Amino acid sequence: MQKILVARPIFPDVIDRLKQYFDVDWNQGDVLPADALKQRLADKDGALSAGDPIDGSVLAAAPRLRVVSNMAVGYNNFDMAAFNASNVLGTNTPDVLNESTADFGWALMMAAARRIAESEHWLRAGKWGKWSYDGFLGGDLYGSTLGVIGMGRIGQALARRARGFNMQVIYHNRSRVAPEIEADLNAHYVSKEELLRRADHVVLVLPYTKDSHHTIGAAELALMKPSATLTNIARGGIVDDAALAEALRTKQIAAAGLDVFEGEPSVNPALLTVPNVVLTPHIASATEATRRAMANLAADNLIAALGEGPRAGNPPNPINADVMGRARQ
Ligand code: DGY
Repeated sequence: MQKILVARPIFPDVIDRLKQYFDVDWNQGDVLPADALKQRLADKDGALSAGDPIDGSVLAAAPRLRVVSNMAVGYNNFDMAAFNASNVLGTNTPDVLNESTADFGWALMMAAARRIAESEHWLRAGKWGKWSYDGFLGGDLYGSTLGVIGMGRIGQALARRARGFNMQVIYHNRSRVAPEIEADLNAHYVSKEELLRRADHVVLVLPYTKDSHHTIGAAELALMKPSATLTNIARGGIVDDAALAEALRTKQIAAAGLDVFEGEPSVNPALLTVPNVVLTPHIASATEATRRAMANLAADNLIAALGEGPRAGNPPNPINADVMGRARQ
């Protein structure tokens, strides 16, 4: 039987599925530090990870490893150059999380615009003495302009929801989406700078790469309206969190909603001191149904990539399909 490591706690019934095909080493404890990960991978043929950093040194420590299946759509935790050089396949879990993640983007954007977390903390602190005409004034979503940076599948799901709020949708992306998608979403392509100047609500839904590092920093925040909100459901590092905390403190922008952070699970302490930001612990895809779908898809990828199950040899979501069938380096 081939050996696999499941590097994180996941649904026990998914482990049971994997046990039908593999000898499973399951880490049910804390995130494995690099040395422990290398040790546990030393005799493994495959692995299921969820954001665990896998670079050339990890692959070198695991000479039998042929596939790492990430339980996430984003795979910035994989050094894909190292995967390609070693002929190790990476897989991810796209699509199954689009709608839940888009829902959550809206929840954060609305909470930021309407100051829901801030006013709730105030109420819980026993500070509510009287109704007041100017208590927690926020910004409208209905009829406003939504700016989406990153118009992939999640960005499109998010933009589609703007119809019900009678919003104008502008977007920026590495490349324009097909005209029929633009027409369907009633979305207009603009430069990043124009989007930042015009949007009432900016949402980030782009993958993290070297090029997208600090897509939003001090210079970009300076372009935004003082009434605007910024929501990040993409990845930490896309926003310069220190610059954002300062822009929130000085009210250069009105509010922010953040589900992801530079260096998470650590959070820049300056963000914890500003009231006009809603902070959540990377849970945009966290519904029972979606996390189950992600875990099962990650298992499908692993099973198929290691030549087992009904799709043997044909995993649904290869990232670097070119390496399939090549000898491990
Ligand atoms: C993803 O799938 O990339 C989500 O951010 C969960 O990690």
